[in-house]
Amino acid sequence: MAQREVVQLDRGRIAELTEREEKRLNERTQASRALFERGRTSLAGGVPSSYHLRDPWPIYLDRGQGPRVWDVDGNEMLDFHNGFGSMVQGHAHPAVAAAVRERLEKGTHFAAPTEDGIVVAEELARRFRLPKWRYTNSGSESTMDAIRIARAFTGRDTIVKIFGSYHGHHDYAMVSIGVPYDEIGDRENYASLPYGEGIPQSVVDLTIPVPFNDADAMERRIERLIEEGRKPACVIMEAAMMNLGIVLPEPGYLEAVRELTERHGIVLIFDEVKTGLCIAAGGAVERFGVVPDMVTLAKGLGAGLPSGAIGATEEIMELVENERVYQVGTFNGNPASMAAARASLEEVLTPEAYEHLDAMNERLMTGCEAVIEKHALPGYAVGVGAKGCVTFSPSKITDYESFKATQDGELMDLAWLYNMNRGIFMTPGREEEWTLSVTHSLEDADAFVAVVEEMAADLTA
Ligand SMILES: Cc1ncc(COP(=O)(O)O)c(C=O)c1O
Repeated sequence: MAQREVVQLDRGRIAELTEREEKRLNERTQASRALFERGRTSLAGGVPSSYHLRDPWPIYLDRGQGPRVWDVDGNEMLDFHNGFGSMVQGHAHPAVAAAVRERLEKGTHFAAPTEDGIVVAEELARRFRLPKWRYTNSGSESTMDAIRIARAFTGRDTIVKIFGSYHGHHDYAMVSIGVPYDEIGDRENYASLPYGEGIPQSVVDLTIPVPFNDADAMERRIERLIEEGRKPACVIMEAAMMNLGIVLPEPGYLEAVRELTERHGIVLIFDEVKTGLCIAAGGAVERFGVVPDMVTLAKGLGAGLPSGAIGATEEIMELVENERVYQVGTFNGNPASMAAARASLEEVLTPEAYEHLDAMNERLMTGCEAVIEKHALPGYAVGVGAKGCVTFSPSKITDYESFKATQDGELMDLAWLYNMNRGIFMTPGREEEWTLSVTHSLEDADAFVAVVEEMAADLTA
């Protein structure tokens, strides 16, 4: 990213616009408010997951169709949140709806395998270049089981992750994310910090964070761990970080990590819960051309039904086949989820769909870049496949430290309010990105850009 002159933003103006937009959103979402008041007496915080929380109340949705959603106040919005990136197929896609409807009438759960599960595994093996698969019901289950399998495969306990990356809500991975910046320690020796309470320190200590986009730092940390007799079982990482906005891998980084982990006999896990099926047919493996030892999937796999998957080499999956590791779950390969996944892979997420997603994302990013340049805002657009974001920072973000040091959180919050008040449903939070669906159009991309333009004009007026 070339350095360029940017305007000095007036913080008072940002506060004033934020107040105005908050008031407006509150006025437009009174039915959500009423549901929140009712819901929180029996549902903790009024929400099923803490990631749905929002101050002063969450926006409750009623329905979705294609690229659109409607909230309980009847506000119609183009959906760029898409269920935290799970709905790349769009809402109520006819092919998925037909497959699920058919399955509903034939029974939705047996805890016995069905043919669809085989078809889905065959297609995943082709797309992600890993021969053997198993199912789970979420991204957290996928990463939890993958780590256990990697530990069994290597006979080691320690694991390495990227500082700031989210891999789900189990104890192994709830480490060194979303922590206060001043506690992270020095880059060569980042601290292992629990994300919230209730995670045993002994488990936290087994998870070692390293910076993204720095294979040399990863190598030095791994060498030190080896000297300490704590050689890692695996490195678990997203090939492109998807929870600091989007941080793409620098050229050569993934190849260096692949070489390093292979040389040391450390299992490389690409967590493709967000990237898989969204940034290319074969996710990051296809997009960046680096094949790990294991891949974890969820989100987009089930087209909105809970599901997840783990792919691995023959050698690694042998441990599961021999029942040395129990990879289990009552709902694994649930017939309804498998029917949805099969329809999605065979009929929706086709090569043409990925061309369409790329074209829309290009239009969106180019449009956002043009606005940023016109108004000399401190930011840039970044994305890949169905995913992208505007990162409000005067310099390029390459890892957690640069994110914490330079991201303008107040502008991120304001952008979310502008979107919500102008028919763009976006993921709340300062760290999120948009996800397009195959049902979006180029005009929908333009609608998003128009909101960025309006905010930029108001900010610099
Ligand atoms: C990269 C990554 N891995 C794992 C998970 C956990 O997935 P789930 O919420 O389905 O458990 C997430 C969720 O956002 C994720 O982004």
